[in-house]
Amino acid sequence: MKVIKVKNYEEMSEEALKVMLSVVSENPNAVLGLATGSTPLGLYAKMAQDHRENGTSYANCRAVNLDEYVGLDASSDQSYVYFMRENLFKNIDIKLENTHIENGTAADKEAECARYNALLNELRQDIQLLGIGSNGHIAFNEPGTAFDSVTHIVDLAESTIKDNSRLFKSIDEVPRQAFTMGLSNIMNAKKVLILANGEGKANAVRELVKGEAREEVPATVLQSHPDCILICDEAAGKFI
Ligand code: F6R
Repeated sequence: MKVIKVKNYEEMSEEALKVMLSVVSENPNAVLGLATGSTPLGLYAKMAQDHRENGTSYANCRAVNLDEYVGLDASSDQSYVYFMRENLFKNIDIKLENTHIENGTAADKEAECARYNALLNELRQDIQLLGIGSNGHIAFNEPGTAFDSVTHIVDLAESTIKDNSRLFKSIDEVPRQAFTMGLSNIMNAKKVLILANGEGKANAVRELVKGEAREEVPATVLQSHPDCILICDEAAGKFI
């Protein structure tokens, strides 16, 4: 794993932009694996700015997102489909029909997992962007998820519900389940870019870099990825 330590969130986002642009400039048809949450917001703002100022085009890119809450769709401003549209897609020239995410309101959840998994097999990510949970999760693969897992439904860990409740009116409104890419879908990406900022991620980052690879800390699966880059700020990287 290549580790890039920077001072702060701004520099983390700037470095992440460089990696993202190198992938898109090398392959204008790239498949971009994208993430939601607070971590990539700075990168998404910089991608939008670069698109406006330098004309980087995503018109031929495809996007696949990591996860979606069960029960939420684009009409909910807490859904990840809404998040992606508002924070990235509407600010660049990617075609919405080329953007993919699990359907949170699918009636048949198992069929939806199978559909998304088949799609991921067709659209292998040229780059997969990740944040990391304070408990070491990546996407919504919570501690104990099998390293060979594919798209599935998860019961969110209590710590994740608590971490994510900041984005809801109350903790009771946080969905208890989500669809998520599995760890093997993530490992299938040609390149993985994982970002971490803030002290709350320091323990998870230590495990990611220095811990033994084990299913209790899902992010440690990345230790065996052939092209994984971690960009973290000083606070998140204080133990490495
Ligand atoms: C988001 C995702 C999650 C987040 C992680 C960190 O699509 O899959 O794994 O990346 O929970 O969240 P933030 O960035 O909000 O700290």
